[in-house]
Amino acid sequence: MIPSLLRASSLFKRSFATFTTPLKATMPASLFESKRPASSPEYDPSTLSNYQHFNVLHTDLDYRVDWPKRKLFGTVVYKLTLKANKAPEQVVLDTSFLDIHEAKINGQSVKFNADTERVEPLGNTVTVDLDAAAATAEFDLTLSFNTTDKVTALQWLEPEQTASKKAPYLFSQCQAIHARSLYPCFDTPSVKTPIHTKIASVYPTVASGNVVPAQESQEEYATTDTIYEFQQEIPIPSYLFAIASGDLTSLPIGPRSKVYSEPPNIDACQYEFEADTEKFLEAAESIVFPYEWKTYNVLVLPPSFPYGGMENPNITFATPTLISGDRQNVDVIAHELAHSWSGNLVTNCSWEHFWLNEGWTVYLERRIIGAIHGEAHRHFSAIIGWKDLQTAIEVMSPAVREQYSRLVVHLKERQDPDDAFSSVPYEKGSSLLFHLENVLGGKAVFDPFIPYYFGKFKKRSLDTYQFRDTLYEFFADKKDILDTVDWDTWFYAPGMPPVKLNFDTSLADVCYKLADKWVAAIKAAPAGGADEAYFRGLFSADDIAGWTSTQYVVLLDSLADSTTESAATTAAVRTLGDVYQFASSSNPEVISRWYTLAVPAHLGPATYQALADWLGTVGRMKFVRPGFRLLVKVDRDLAVATFRKHEAFYHPICRSMVAKDLGL
Ligand code: BES
Ligand code: ZN
Repeated sequence: MIPSLLRASSLFKRSFATFTTPLKATMPASLFESKRPASSPEYDPSTLSNYQHFNVLHTDLDYRVDWPKRKLFGTVVYKLTLKANKAPEQVVLDTSFLDIHEAKINGQSVKFNADTERVEPLGNTVTVDLDAAAATAEFDLTLSFNTTDKVTALQWLEPEQTASKKAPYLFSQCQAIHARSLYPCFDTPSVKTPIHTKIASVYPTVASGNVVPAQESQEEYATTDTIYEFQQEIPIPSYLFAIASGDLTSLPIGPRSKVYSEPPNIDACQYEFEADTEKFLEAAESIVFPYEWKTYNVLVLPPSFPYGGMENPNITFATPTLISGDRQNVDVIAHELAHSWSGNLVTNCSWEHFWLNEGWTVYLERRIIGAIHGEAHRHFSAIIGWKDLQTAIEVMSPAVREQYSRLVVHLKERQDPDDAFSSVPYEKGSSLLFHLENVLGGKAVFDPFIPYYFGKFKKRSLDTYQFRDTLYEFFADKKDILDTVDWDTWFYAPGMPPVKLNFDTSLADVCYKLADKWVAAIKAAPAGGADEAYFRGLFSADDIAGWTSTQYVVLLDSLADSTTESAATTAAVRTLGDVYQFASSSNPEVISRWYTLAVPAHLGPATYQALADWLGTVGRMKFVRPGFRLLVKVDRDLAVATFRKHEAFYHPICRSMVAKDLGL
């Protein structure tokens, strides 16, 4: 905990004190029992498939994009062998809202059963019987299918919803459990396979692999289609499969990197990323080991893309809110590129162990930033992360908090991994790694563990226990130190971590100082005379001249933490908005924090309407969900009307999350 925030939060109303105390004393003992399974990696409860019986040696995926029907027609071919000691009579795959046409084994049509009863939220299964012959050797399983308008992995945009307005646009988002609505698969991060993809489309197309140059004699699916071909040689899990097709073009952003976007935005995209991408790759390589995926490209999507970034191999998908013209959001690229090691090469075995993907990635992202800009910047980012963790835990309803504020979550009763999603795996996970780095003796001691761990598990999937075992194995001479870590509390206790981390606050101090000055001015405001003129006399735009967006974020976070409802606060926040102009920032992290401060300060209908208007322009769930949560508290009708107005613009995943949040 950073001293200034601690001070502020203990003085004022919006205190997080309840969550900073480990809850061990008050929790039922069962929550703290070791949850270690009999064998590792632990079974994935978020799939209906019988993945444990098979090795997937190779996957071939062919699609034809039927633009008029807004459907994908596909064929998937799996090369399978049985695992030792397994003799199942069937292959059971995950599907969701797919029409399945045919199944073949070794090229011969066979009977299959496409189960029509959905098991929410996991979807359906398709079952194919195995004859004895197939079950003894390597065999091919082929399924033909098409997507329907209900699939959750795809968003189809009309030309008017795109930047160039010229063509429709299609993109996928499979993490966590949506790949099953793109193709029948063992939809678990425990199964990894090389994938070869061919996509026939009238528009330029990208997918999660390296581009195979166009063949001379392309077999034509339709006269206007081009066939785009991609090779993913490194075995990947289904959630990393991705495609996008539309009016796309590309420009270089580094020696092994390109950025793709619609033509009107391409120059701005190139400018945003060209200074940092290769530097980030090189920094990551020196922390872990050389980049193994050959190319690292970025696709900047239309605004309805529901995440900041998605680490699809060879082609990170990114929100257009990163393109702010000032290169201030590139940490998202550092994050997605770090996933090339944490997540994509070394993968969580199930969404219960999601922190292994995201906690490690946040840790690496901050190490990259530290390597390039200095340790103080790494710590500055961690300070913001710690605050995000507190907020994430605070906004969880009590029932959910007990389950989803734990590092290792429990999804065994068919919980939806999308519901469990929060900053907790990111920030509690990276905090644990930062804590381990510190207790083991600092970076010099911890660093050799990083390539060891990623080398040991590359191309594999693991659980939290294998991570801990590897730590004990590598630091055998430091067992005493590792034994001091309260593992059960870190892994299973809800709430904030059991240890308060010490951050270097040098970059944050000016922000705290200015926040303190505002808070002091509010307290000293003359009763009844706390108007804007009073605050204007004390503050001006010069206060923040030369600051980075991240410093604005810390100022706003710290103020949101330390102000209470009063007439003076309302006048102060209104003045702050006028003087510093945060609502018109080019950085959505700043805009979203501005509303987090302004809405509870009761700035009134004009501010609520401005928030509603902004919510019609961003589709990134990180901003959309908190925005609606703020709005619904002050004006439910406006919140519901705003959601209805923009429902079609939001991605299906975002749409359903916001509908849940609003109780619709
Ligand atoms: N892999 C995640 C996005 C994700 C997680 C999609 C779970 C679906 C389910 C990605 O790497 C991510 O963490 N994105 C962040 C950006 C980041 C800088 C923390 C985001 O979207 O905000
Ligand atoms: Zn991530």
